[in-house]
Amino acid sequence: MNIALIAGARPNFVKIAPLLKELRSRPAFRTTLIHTGQHYDDVMSGRFFRDLEIDPPDVNLSVGSGSHAEQTAEVMRRLEPLLAERRPGLVLVVGDVNSTVAAAITAVKLGIRVGHIEAGLRSFDRAMPEEINRILTDSIAHMHFVTEESGWQNLLREGVPLESIHLVGNLMIDALEAARPRWEASTIFEDLGLEPGRPFALLTLHRPSNVDDGRAFGRLMGAIDELSEILPILFPAHPRVFPRLATRRSARPAPARGETMPESGLVALEPLGYLDCIALMSRARFVLTDSGGIQEETTVLGVPCLTLRSGTERPVTVTSGTNTLVGSDPARIVEEALWTLISKPRPKSPPPLWDGRAAERIAQVLETAAAGRSEAAGAAAARGQREVR
Ligand code: UD1
Repeated sequence: MNIALIAGARPNFVKIAPLLKELRSRPAFRTTLIHTGQHYDDVMSGRFFRDLEIDPPDVNLSVGSGSHAEQTAEVMRRLEPLLAERRPGLVLVVGDVNSTVAAAITAVKLGIRVGHIEAGLRSFDRAMPEEINRILTDSIAHMHFVTEESGWQNLLREGVPLESIHLVGNLMIDALEAARPRWEASTIFEDLGLEPGRPFALLTLHRPSNVDDGRAFGRLMGAIDELSEILPILFPAHPRVFPRLATRRSARPAPARGETMPESGLVALEPLGYLDCIALMSRARFVLTDSGGIQEETTVLGVPCLTLRSGTERPVTVTSGTNTLVGSDPARIVEEALWTLISKPRPKSPPPLWDGRAAERIAQVLETAAAGRSEAAGAAAARGQREVR
């Protein structure tokens, strides 16, 4: 089976790392890795390929940044001739970024089958661009690989046929487990002058609703400033957030090499690579975030996660994990964070199948499907021959 695997942005790279490795270890598959170029800076792309030991992409479409329409259209425009020429038997897309929906539409319109990995997640908030990407991708995909029970139920409710849905676990957790020895060996603590046992918190923010509107960002950062009087809050800032963060007087740069991390304050960092980010997350007293993937990673690491959103498309991280939805009210954020600091961590119970073997299950489903399809094709050919005779 000839498979084209599409990846465009940071969280996609994490998910394709274990999957590509698994597919390339099995003789049943021939794979082409297509990088759309949605993320292109070394800190957003190249470093992830190195950290996660992903083979370099076979093709890079280099679409770059733009408005949603521009970026989506550019992926489609550049991908179409490539897929038309190579005609893979299956296009696999992951997650919910613009590259995901663009690749799915392009493939389906060329008559190529599409598998969506991380299907069925729903925030029920159509103001999120990712929610639109998820709904559209799922509605046209032929195979749906889901990470949690809610995904399964959402798809069934939307009329997706049961036989196309496969609960396989979570590739993010495969990646985390596979890289464990390497992130455990990260030197980020020494690099930042964080002595062993020194409490700190980690903050990530990049959702348009939190960072594009100056007032919303200012309110959130007011709560962060208050908390940063108690312990250092490390904020590796996404490129879209940097300009706003730079205007805040409370943000200070990371300590120079050889200096010690101060006992409090908001510390602005460049975007982190995968290994350093997981290493910091694993030892943080708590994580404040609006990212989807980090809600999942903290659940498995057993680290309290305060999600700065009012809902989540990953409800299992709340019911079986360490996630608490704290919304955007500054008083609530401060209260929940203080409560986390004085209360005992909840015992962790990873969600079903979040065991590092999702890639294996996906490959198994694909092998079975390929065998079924070639059997069906063989039977049809035999039928055809009989009819001709
Ligand atoms: C995208 C995804 C989001 C995902 C996030 C992970 C969509 C709609 N959003 O958001 O779901 O959680 O990636 O990071 O697909 N930029 C750079 N260098 C880069 C890439 C981007 O400087 O390598 C800057 C550009 O100014 C760009 C902006 O970041 O305009 C936003 O990038 P974009 O890919 O459009 O969306 P993200 O916010 O990264």
